[in-house]
Amino acid sequence: MTQMALIISRTAIDARVKELGEEITADYQDKRLVVVGALNGAFVFMADLIRVINLPLEVDFVRVSSYGDETYSSGEVRLSKDVELDLIGRDVLIVEDIVDTGHTLVRLKDYFAGRNAASVSVCTFISKRERREIDLAVDYVGFEVARGFLVGYGLDCAEQYRNLPEVYHLKKV
Ligand code: IMP
Ligand code: MG
Repeated sequence: MTQMALIISRTAIDARVKELGEEITADYQDKRLVVVGALNGAFVFMADLIRVINLPLEVDFVRVSSYGDETYSSGEVRLSKDVELDLIGRDVLIVEDIVDTGHTLVRLKDYFAGRNAASVSVCTFISKRERREIDLAVDYVGFEVARGFLVGYGLDCAEQYRNLPEVYHLKKV
């Protein structure tokens, strides 16, 4: 059986996303912003985030998946959908749902670094340091969460729970 405990409320999400939007708006004045979401998890967060960035921007998506079980990233990250916009000279902001071990993000950053973008930064909804294996810089972090497996607001467990509007800690009991 599983149990769910609310850890980030809708009010907290709304307030924090608005702050991130303001920060990104200030940082990307006079830049050529492309927001690239990592599917599937980032789509809910990204939909809210782009609506509080007060700048001209374009959006695109990549799809990444890592082999492994449902709750742990194996380190072998596969890119199964590429961006379609031309990124040369663009300021790329990668949007992730959650950074856990760091493998997915390293793979994405390397990938975009090879595409001649003017800059590559990262915005993650959640940063979870519990299982971090690669120490990497994340430019914008919505929430730091110490541990646990989280679902809701785009985050899944075996593709379930993405539609929940708030974030829950999923516990096997
Ligand atoms: P990393 O490569 O270990 O950093 O894993 C990142 C990916 O693993 C995220 O984009 C999520 O898809 C998934 N993930 C890691 N932790 C969680 C979690 O607590 N809930 C749901 N998905 C997670
Ligand atoms: Mg996932």
